[in-house]
Amino acid sequence: MFGPMRIADNIPTSWCEPWKIKTIEHIHLASAEERRSALEIAGWNTFLLPSRRVYIDLLTDSGTNAMSDVQWAAIMTGDEAYAGSKDFERLEEVVQKVYGYEHLIPTHQGRGAEHIQSQIMIKKGQIVPGNMYFTTTKFHQEHAGGEFEDVIVDEAFDPHSEFEFKGNVDLAKLDRIVQRVGPQGIAYVSLETNVNMCGGQPISMANARELKAYCSKLGIKVMLDATRAVENCYFINTKEAGYEATSISAILAELCSYTDGCTISGKKDCLVNIGGFLALRDDHLAQMARELVVAFEGLHTYGGMAGRDMGAMAVGIVESQDFEYIRARVEQVGYLGKRLERFGVPVVKPFGGHAIYLNVRDILPHMPQEQYPAQRIAAELYLESGVRSMERGIVSAGRDHDGNEYKPDLELVRLTIPRRVYTQSHLDYVSEACARVCQRAESIRGLKMVYEPGSLRFFQARFESLN
Ligand code: F0G
Repeated sequence: MFGPMRIADNIPTSWCEPWKIKTIEHIHLASAEERRSALEIAGWNTFLLPSRRVYIDLLTDSGTNAMSDVQWAAIMTGDEAYAGSKDFERLEEVVQKVYGYEHLIPTHQGRGAEHIQSQIMIKKGQIVPGNMYFTTTKFHQEHAGGEFEDVIVDEAFDPHSEFEFKGNVDLAKLDRIVQRVGPQGIAYVSLETNVNMCGGQPISMANARELKAYCSKLGIKVMLDATRAVENCYFINTKEAGYEATSISAILAELCSYTDGCTISGKKDCLVNIGGFLALRDDHLAQMARELVVAFEGLHTYGGMAGRDMGAMAVGIVESQDFEYIRARVEQVGYLGKRLERFGVPVVKPFGGHAIYLNVRDILPHMPQEQYPAQRIAAELYLESGVRSMERGIVSAGRDHDGNEYKPDLELVRLTIPRRVYTQSHLDYVSEACARVCQRAESIRGLKMVYEPGSLRFFQARFESLN
């Protein structure tokens, strides 16, 4: 009856996760009526939805990581001494070894580190050039009296450009600022890895090297936002000539060597749920940071983190360097991107390292930006499927000093993938829901903002539907 089984030619070699699931958390899909009611109570803002009404939570990759059994073991053995915890020593040693900076100042999370860094490094009126703004980073720069200026390459603003290193700094733009205000007018260059606001896009090693060479001549410091540096290193390994055979740790060490220090939100790359740090080479700056951290965060050997959290972070940093891990992480994000593309859903290319971004200008070309199209699509996706995503467009961009709304070129919805949490079938469900929303795009109307907080408005703003 049956002939000999025929094995197909060209069998692909798939990546897979270098872990298996040991504990699960139940999730529940709320009914369509429950979702509609939850969204209205939340003022059409996905940040204000209760998690128990969310089915698949792609709001953020921040603090949503699943920890390994080894990390949980570190939680159990945490040293909660107020001063000089062994977990501080453990974390300090790992940070020195992996990132290569001498001084570690722990903080409760990334923005705590941004606050301290901005206070010690920015003088009133100085410019902080950076490769695109991040919301909390820019807030702290301005709070310290500085002014952010964007020096990212033009390709970053074009969701259709397939340039592989859209995070790169445009040195000509930086040079124009230097010509205008002089090196003393610049606090430092703020260099983000896998630039969040333009789609999780990497910087190249060549660009970091050139930036360092340019800044060194002028005595300008380069400060890294290394929040997603490991994911950036995977792209350097896979996309930049000469790094194919270099380990993730070696790429990271070289990248950090072109910078004078970093801030990190440990809630991303470091595979924990809370924590962050500022790391510095300069002894004097480190001393200033330690003086401030005790006032704003906690003693300089815990900075707002529990001992157990520092222990789990030390383990997480080491785990994040494993090539099989980081490949599965970034390729899983790409898997969602490819599924969406297959359904014809407009997405930012190349695919980012932590998220896929829907290009809402192409989904709702009829809707003016003043009607918050990306905010609306994030809400519609929730109504459709219980999937929570985040607006990254005009609402996130906020207002300038004169009170006018910034009109960013990019009007995006971010589908952010928590690390080691969801499976491919969860992402199949997400991609199908996005496709269904796009199918009915023509009938989707805009939003009106009815409550606007004074700063970082996207977190708590409230909206009403225009239809
Ligand atoms: N820098 C970048 C690039 C970030 O993405 C974040 C946080 C921070 C700094 C601040 O760190 O949250 O620990 O205080 N990003 C989260 C997100 C909130 O969803 O993208 P934090």
